[in-house]
Amino acid sequence: MARIIAVTSQKGGVGKTTTAINLAAYLAQAGSRVLLVDLDPQSNATSGLGLEGPEKSLLPDILDGRLAWHRACQQTAMEGLLCLPSSLHLQVPIDERQARGTGVTTLREEWSSTHEEAPDFVILDCPPSLGPMTDLALGLADSVLIPVQCEYFAMEGLAQVLARVRQAEQDLQREIEIQGLVLTLYSPEVELCLDVAQEVKRFFPKETLETPILRDSTLAEATSHGQPIPLYDSRSPGAWSYMNLAKEILRHESQTRTRA
Ligand SMILES: Nc1ncnc2c1ncn2[C@@H]1O[C@H](COP(=O)(O)OP(=O)(O)OP(=O)(O)O)[C@@H](O)[C@H]1O
Ligand SMILES: [Mg+2]
Repeated sequence: MARIIAVTSQKGGVGKTTTAINLAAYLAQAGSRVLLVDLDPQSNATSGLGLEGPEKSLLPDILDGRLAWHRACQQTAMEGLLCLPSSLHLQVPIDERQARGTGVTTLREEWSSTHEEAPDFVILDCPPSLGPMTDLALGLADSVLIPVQCEYFAMEGLAQVLARVRQAEQDLQREIEIQGLVLTLYSPEVELCLDVAQEVKRFFPKETLETPILRDSTLAEATSHGQPIPLYDSRSPGAWSYMNLAKEILRHESQTRTRA
């Protein structure tokens, strides 16, 4: 039964895709069956895994029930990690009707089933906007993971995402958990970065995850080579960051499941 996590923020360039790829990779390395879904027409998660998406997005067919989701998936270089790629296009491939239609509920149920094809984790990489793709992601998600870059206006951006999640909860009439706020592009030697991190923790003590993601250019290099960081350079600071983030999330999930 899958845990469906949307990596989302309307702010651009805060590390959503880097987090989606590398968290997914370390969850797979820890033995989970993971599906990374690229919901961004920029297709950065698809190319960051060294894949090429189809010419035309397959999402409309999946949501309208004409194509089974697993038939649209591609195997990645990482064992246990599948990707449902995006195709590179300028326009959002689905409209509001499809983003909020019954196809979303059906897909969510299929991932959440005990069927042997169902993944343990589904990671949704969202675009930096609050349009239909983010509506779709929230309609599918059990929880949201929000990357927060430690810079000016981080808190304002955060308030907007959280308000969007609360709105989605009302529309959908179910809870969407805050999986966590993850501090990204973190440089402990930069004072502003430490100040912002402290402020985020002060306002959101329960939601802020313990693991910050260090700023490390190896992460950018890995993506440009189409490889997740555990395959590109598993000893880099970025690799350690994402390995610890995956551990933290796995710990949280096993505690929640024990309590349930
Ligand atoms: N921890 C990090 N250290 C160094 N560079 C990073 C780190 N995280 C992300 N980057 C780089 O910063 C840029 C933006 O990251 P990324 O694409 O993950 O952000 P995003 O939120 O998905 O962006 P968009 O909103 O455009 O989808 C990329 O060039 C990426 O390689
Ligand atoms: Mg992105």
